[in-house]
Amino acid sequence: MVVDTVTDVASSAADVVDVASLRGTHVLDDLSIAPDKIKWIKKNVEFERNYDDQPPLIPHKTDGMTINLKKNKCLSCHSDENYKEEDSPKMSSTHFFTRDETRLPEMSPRRYFCLQCHVPQAKLDPLVDSNFVNLDE
Ligand code: HEC
Ligand code: HEC
Repeated sequence: MVVDTVTDVASSAADVVDVASLRGTHVLDDLSIAPDKIKWIKKNVEFERNYDDQPPLIPHKTDGMTINLKKNKCLSCHSDENYKEEDSPKMSSTHFFTRDETRLPEMSPRRYFCLQCHVPQAKLDPLVDSNFVNLDE
């Protein structure tokens, strides 16, 4: 019985190639179409935050800024060592804590991949309309 169910699921997963979502129907193995030219939204000031503890949006473009095991381009401006010289905002102290709340001398590894939380903004037609309203409004 159990084996049958597993087999059924596996074969139906192979059959289903279209996924219907709010964006429309998509063939699963089709890549998304990237816009030809991205107009990044650049600001000298911060983006407004929409809720407490929101990771701030990035007010500059991030193309070509590599983050891998050997280098992290973001740190060349935002680290404690470089932020003054680069006239960039410094990462807040939360970036130095481990999960069990130990303060490390260096940035915590769990914050290394900045783009997991911080994202740049571009002028694009939204794929789906949003009716998000800030709690304060
Ligand atoms: C060449 C220096 C430089 C590099 C490299 C850089 N930044 Fe920035 N960043 C800045 C400056 C300067 C600002 C302040 C706003 C401005 O002038 O654009 C800023 C602003 C920000 C902010 C907004 C902070 C706030 O309080 O609102 C975030 C988040 C951020 N950067 C993340 C990143 C991430 C993630 C990367 C790597 C993908 C990165 N930055 C790479 C210079 C840099
Ligand atoms: C796990 C999510 C997460 C990751 C990964 C992360 N951040 Fe943040 N970051 C946040 C949050 C949340 C805030 C806002 C609250 C705070 O300061 O802790 C923030 C705030 C900031 C600020 C603004 C500080 C201020 O005082 O206003 C900067 C600059 C920044 N991060 C840079 C970075 C850089 C550079 C990296 C990568 C080296 C990074 N962050 C990785 C979540 C993250």
